[in-house]
Amino acid sequence: MKIEDNIEGDAPSQSFPLLRRILPKKLHPFARGVRKRLIADGFRSEKPFCWTYPYTQVSTRRQDSILEKAEALVRAGTKGHFVECGVLDGGTAAILAYAARNDDRKISLFDAWEGMPEATAEDGAGSQKWVGDIVGSPKRVKSILTKVGARIDNIEIHRGWFEDTLPVSNIQEIAFLHIDCDFFSPTKLVLETFVPKVVKGGWVQIDDYTAFEGCRLAVNEFIEANPWVELTVEDVPGGAIYFRKH
Ligand SMILES: C[S@@+](CC[C@H](N)C(=O)[O-])C[C@H]1O[C@@H](n2cnc3c(N)ncnc32)[C@H](O)[C@@H]1O
Repeated sequence: MKIEDNIEGDAPSQSFPLLRRILPKKLHPFARGVRKRLIADGFRSEKPFCWTYPYTQVSTRRQDSILEKAEALVRAGTKGHFVECGVLDGGTAAILAYAARNDDRKISLFDAWEGMPEATAEDGAGSQKWVGDIVGSPKRVKSILTKVGARIDNIEIHRGWFEDTLPVSNIQEIAFLHIDCDFFSPTKLVLETFVPKVVKGGWVQIDDYTAFEGCRLAVNEFIEANPWVELTVEDVPGGAIYFRKH
């Protein structure tokens, strides 16, 4: 299956659009968890995916790609933080923390937890419906991190808009960078700020390349400016999208 076959528009459609409109934003994380519990399939997968299932929007194949790479970095003793930009309810952050549960490694998590910011022209008209939506819960993040046995003292939470938090984050070395912020501007900012800090042998995984036009454009522009980047786009849907620093 080609990647083009899976690109239907500039942004994914929303599930339960009417319910989203009437349900207070504060209850969205709870509703997401309940919906997952009703579908229930993911609870039959192995650890840690059965735990992270109600806390993430990311496919098990992509979570598996994060786990495999993060565990390999731990085994190899590769220095650097595990960083995630776009945390929501903490599912994929918990995968990173799970991989590092026996390692003295910092996990740095960035999110505003205020829903998606303003979209730009690069994101396409279909992205407008996501603005202010996808409100996550730091409380749920803490609960899934605890569940997977994360070393809580090694977790750094950077709460706020990336424009404010990234420039003052003071992270020197990154071993794994997970980018999951959907839109053009935040993806571009994360790539430009953090990829130069990724160490040799480190990985960058991008979640939204096939789903959001703005993310795809930001990544493609970054590759154009940095021809050393060799992007792997696995079989879609659900496959992981990543590159490695050599
Ligand atoms: C798709 S969700 C992340 C999903 C999550 N990784 C998971 O496991 O389900 C996208 C997140 O990016 C965050 N985000 C997007 N743009 C941002 C920005 N400019 N500053 C801070 N957070 C942002 C949103 O708040 C939202 O929580």
